[in-house]
Amino acid sequence: MPALNRQSRIWPFATFVITLIAVCLFIALIAVSLKETPKPVRTCGKTGDRDTGGAGVIEDAEPELPGLFHDLTTKELTNLRSFLESDPEINATRLSIDDELGRDALLQSYVSVVDLYLPTKSDALAHLDQGHPPPPREALVILFRGDKSPAVVEERVCGPLPNVVSCRMLKSPKRRNPVEYSLRPFNMMEFGALIEVLLHGVVEEKLGFLLRESFGISYANCKENLCLDFFTTPVSTGLLRDIRQRRLWVWAHYPVEFFILHPVDFALLAVLDDADPSTYGVDKVWYAGKLYDGMDDLVARYNSSSRKNDDDDDEEDYDDDDTDDDGDDDDDGDDDDDDNDDDDVYDDDNNDDDDDDVVLVVLVVLIQYYGNE
Ligand SMILES: *[C@@H]1O[C@H](CO)[C@@H](O)[C@H](O)[C@H]1NC(C)=O
Ligand SMILES: *[C@@H]1O[C@H](CO)[C@@H](O)[C@H](O)[C@H]1NC(C)=O
Repeated sequence: MPALNRQSRIWPFATFVITLIAVCLFIALIAVSLKETPKPVRTCGKTGDRDTGGAGVIEDAEPELPGLFHDLTTKELTNLRSFLESDPEINATRLSIDDELGRDALLQSYVSVVDLYLPTKSDALAHLDQGHPPPPREALVILFRGDKSPAVVEERVCGPLPNVVSCRMLKSPKRRNPVEYSLRPFNMMEFGALIEVLLHGVVEEKLGFLLRESFGISYANCKENLCLDFFTTPVSTGLLRDIRQRRLWVWAHYPVEFFILHPVDFALLAVLDDADPSTYGVDKVWYAGKLYDGMDDLVARYNSSSRKNDDDDDEEDYDDDDTDDDGDDDDDGDDDDDDNDDDDVYDDDNNDDDDDDVVLVVLVVLIQYYGNE
């Protein structure tokens, strides 16, 4: 009986202790999981400070005092952005990627790229080897100055980070600064304006009926949101032989997966020379294996050819019902409108073999597609 008594006193005590330990562990687990310590990233090299046992580990937390070659930190970027927006000479637009991609932004001062601006090698070595004070950290800022006349692209060096006080124009013996606005890379803002002004505007107005008759859909006013989609091929100013010209091939495709297998034989050479989207236009039009001198030229020839074909039933109409998405409608083109051949601006060798065109189109599409990946 006494043995049983002792045992019955031990068990409640043991249960209490074990429960207590479990609760403590649970609290510790919560504390650890709530604590936001970035995990050090292990590497197989010898990165890090070997003296403090940090070899083979890189820190991905942002340091309070970033080193010479450390990427711009969140704090530096935020301060820089505020400076660019408030400086009267720069007056950067507050537009962010989440905002409406409006055409107005193209006529404002727009921050395109921000990156660390490296110190000169001699300044870096003076600090690293001879213990001189570190050179100030600076940022390279590329601005699209749609607000200037003429519009330009500027490269500026802003510093010292993190509390920026000035943004000087970059002076380099290697390249000029500023450069022509036409040489800037494309971005979603410009595509937004292109869709609004060209594809949904003047192209729909002039060619909407033709696109619907030929391919079943157009870029705008479509049923169930099934509109033609587009992809683009910029034309180098080297080919244009005029640095102020900005041209872009805008190709059509059906809104389907694997669109490169469903090319539509239609493209526009868009004219985007001026900063103001309301001046956008169309230079050449590619339709059914032929190049036309603009939308009016195409419509005139299309309408007269349709009318001619209405009188003469032997010939095939442009308006065929072959909209089975296989994209090879263009075979019909050559038989009934040989009279157009003289007008092929780029087709110097008078080549009637449409297979070459299809191969070219598919190649361009593939290059474009994988270039974007
Ligand atoms: C700054 O830009 C805005 C448009 O983003 C414009 O309305 C304003 O007048 C500009 N301010 C200066 C000082 O140029
Ligand atoms: C061409 O034909 C379409 C439809 O038949 C018509 O709406 C358009 O006004 C015509 N355009 C010209 C320039 O003849």
